[in-house]
Amino acid sequence: MRDYFIAGNWKMFKTPTEGAAFVKELSETLKGTSQKVMVAPSFASLDAVGKALHGSSVLLGAQNMAAAEEGAHTGEVSPIMLKDLGVSVVILGHSERRAIYGETDELINTKVKLALKHGFEVILCVGETLEEREAGKVEEVVNQQLLSGLEGVTEEMLAKVVIAYEPVWAIGTGKTATPQDADSVHQVIRQTIGKTYSSATAEKLIIQYGGSVKPGNAKELMAMPNIDGALVGGASLKVEDFTAIVNFN
Ligand code: G3P
Repeated sequence: MRDYFIAGNWKMFKTPTEGAAFVKELSETLKGTSQKVMVAPSFASLDAVGKALHGSSVLLGAQNMAAAEEGAHTGEVSPIMLKDLGVSVVILGHSERRAIYGETDELINTKVKLALKHGFEVILCVGETLEEREAGKVEEVVNQQLLSGLEGVTEEMLAKVVIAYEPVWAIGTGKTATPQDADSVHQVIRQTIGKTYSSATAEKLIIQYGGSVKPGNAKELMAMPNIDGALVGGASLKVEDFTAIVNFN
């Protein structure tokens, strides 16, 4: 009833040249795949990768976006610029943005609303740290990030929002949440959306799992009732691995 959405977050890997060559190969290997697929290169590689994706069904995503349309914001990239580059999906609130660059729930919420205003699909990332998990705060943290990130987002706007549950302790560590653990957090997210919006909207919401997704674990993660896709880091950097994840079934 919900379509899977597999997204690759390249983080700070792949030059424009490497990225363009990668997506040319990827588009070939994914020919005939009906799955919704996205790659998010660094800002510097968006132009080259976007051009190389011409005619492909793979979507172009950005890993971040400025919280303003234009102005004196040295080093930032605006929604207008991303639109012009052919970006259709923006990842916001990634834990690396939160932890390394100090992005707050408030800033992320501003970005979410701005991205939706400009017609982007948004992947809003939420997830707890190991300390928060050990302190039994998973639900509290995830709900706080979710509801703050979506403040002022109407039910209609939510149709363009995907939630990515990425437990921080599972990112780039090789440790994956068990499918059952991940699914139970996805279920909490769906219930919160149900209470805040409506059960119909909650049922439609795509919730991706992210954190050491690999060809070897994608199938069992995707088999869980509340897991509707993946936000893949490391394994999205190799055509063979990413293709295997996209074609998990
Ligand atoms: O956004 C994707 C991500 O943070 C997961 O990274 O390398 O654990 O798949 P990785």
